[in-house]
Parts: sequence; structure tokens; C-alpha cells
Amino acid sequence: MAMCTSLLQGAPQEWALVKRHHTEDIFGVQLCANNPYLLTKCGQLLDQEIDVDFIDLNLGCPIDLIYKSGGGCGLLRRNKVLESCIKNLSQILTIPLTVKMRTGVYSDERIAHKLAPNVRDWGVSLLTIHGRSREQRYTKMADWKYIKEVAKAAAPLPVFGNGDILSYDDYKIALENSPELAGIMIGRGALIKPWIFTEIKEQKIWDISSSERFDILKKYTNYGLEHWGSDNRGVENTRRFMLEWLSFLYRYIPVGVLEHPPQKVNERPPSYKGRDYLETLMASSSASDWIKISEMLLGPVPENFQFLPKHKANSYK
Ligand SMILES: Cc1cc2nc3c(=O)[nH]c(=O)nc-3n(C[C@H](O)[C@H](O)[C@H](O)COP(=O)(O)O)c2cc1C
Repeated sequence: MAMCTSLLQGAPQEWALVKRHHTEDIFGVQLCANNPYLLTKCGQLLDQEIDVDFIDLNLGCPIDLIYKSGGGCGLLRRNKVLESCIKNLSQILTIPLTVKMRTGVYSDERIAHKLAPNVRDWGVSLLTIHGRSREQRYTKMADWKYIKEVAKAAAPLPVFGNGDILSYDDYKIALENSPELAGIMIGRGALIKPWIFTEIKEQKIWDISSSERFDILKKYTNYGLEHWGSDNRGVENTRRFMLEWLSFLYRYIPVGVLEHPPQKVNERPPSYKGRDYLETLMASSSASDWIKISEMLLGPVPENFQFLPKHKANSYK
């Protein structure tokens, strides 16, 4: 996701977000803004200037600052503005426009099923629905029954369902129970278990070893240094993003140590000893151990280095 205001101001860190990596075979940019003028200006600029397959409109961001200014899921309740945003943007783009929304703002007032046929008629090519309200954040499981209702209301618009998919089993069950859906979108699963897409492609659970997981981090390190440069600044940028990622990765519980696989996204990792030193280290919830892992790949941290993860997106029971 990129903020339209920052892109239009030319902020380098925002333009870095919309840079496609050559290994990405499909690449979309999600835009966040609170008015049609900013969105169309920004959408047109991206369409002309970068290599992108589709633009997605953010109707789900729950962050106070964005919501209160009328962007993200704040747009869900501004019908007229939303209509202009979607009509203008879809008409100006030469590539498809998609939207991602929540069930609504409040848990007891779901509105996505009413909005779905509107966004279809206003020119959207695909809708993703995350089965939770703004109020809910990550408490409680996503409501897949309601996701189905939204898909029915939006027909024949293709709809993707989103929420709590962490394994091939979760994916299969969600699709089997919801034949109305065109596909599934995965959020935290992609961060906790980036090999989830391989599992789905190969239709089996993968008991990945710690060294195979470390190889994924090595690949990330190379990509990071290639992207940000291998000077001190590039190394520390790569480290910051790696540490944020490690704050999700540690939540993976190896299939081999689970009593009842597959792991569920709301399952708090039990305290366990891995099958080797690296697996145990990778299971640690302590930031000092994530730093240790980063040091194995990027060398020692600078003096007085501190790290506090940005996201605490869990729904542990
Ligand atoms: C670290 C993090 C960053 C996210 N950023 C975005 C974002 O920029 N845009 C968006 O639409 N959703 C964002 N989400 C929400 C996810 O896309 C997804 O809707 C949500 O996590 C529920 O799906 P899941 O249960 O598969 O994680 C983010 C989630 C996390 C954990």
C-alpha cells in the first residue's frame, strides 16, 4: 500500500514501495487516499510511469489517522465520495481497478454486502473482502459465512475472500465451502509462512527444515542489499525490514513438532525446543534473538541498536 499524498509529493520511501521486483510475475499497487482528486491523479501517474498490472483501492485500513481523515475504511461510509473515487479512477486507468474492503466499520453493522453491487456497477474489476470489521481488528476469527454473502451480492463480479488462511488445508476448506469465490487472499500467512503458496500449488503440507527457512532469509538479504545498496544505510534498511518480518516468522510452528497439524493462525506458539539449534532460535519471541538472526546474515548491529516491532497483529485465544 502506498499513500497518494506521499507519492504525489515525490517521497522516495513511498516510490520504493511501488517498485516491481523482476521476480514478481503479477504486481499490483494498493492506493490509499480520502478523495477522488488525489486518487485519480495518482492512479494516472502510476499507470503511465511504472510497471504495474492493476491498481487496488484501500477500503480497509483501520489506522486512526487514516480512518479519521476519511481514507481506508473511512471511505466505506462516504457513499458519494466513494462513488466518485471508483468511477473516476476506473475510467482513467488503462489497467484493471480492484478494491479491498472490510465487512464494515462496526461489528454490529455490516455494510459490505450492500456496497458490493455498487462497486461492481461503478467499474471495479475484482473485490477482495476481509471478513472482519474495523472495530474487530484481529480479535475473533474472520466471518467466512458473511464473505459468501458478499460474493453472492456482488455476482458476477469476481470476489476473493480473506482472513485466517495459514495452510493448504485452510485454503482448500475455504474454497470448498465457498464455491461463489473466485479466489483467496492471504495476509499474515504470507509473512509467517512465505512457503504457503508452494504448499497450495503442491497441495500438501511442507515440513520445511530450519536450513531451508534460513535460505529464504539469505535470499531476502541478497534482494534487500540489491535494492537498498550494501553501504551502511542499505544494510541497516535491510535489517529493519528483516526484523519486522522476523516478528511474524517466529510464529511458525514446524509441522514436525505439532501434535495436531496444520497450525491455525490464532494458535499461540507453545514453548518448544526445535529439532536443531537454528529451529529453536527461529521460534523465539524475543527481539534480541531476531537481532541475533539478523547478525548471522548482515553482521553486527551498530552500537545502541534497538528494535521494537511495528505490528502486533495476532488474534491468539
Ligand atoms: C503487517 C501487516 C500489514 C498490512 N498491510 C495492509 C495493507 O497495506 N493493505 C491492506 O489492504 N491490508 C493490509 N493488511 C491486512 C491484510 O491484508 C489482511 O486483510 C488481514 O491481515 C487479514 O488477513 P489474514 O488473516 O490472511 O492475515 C496488513 C496486515 C498486516 C499483518
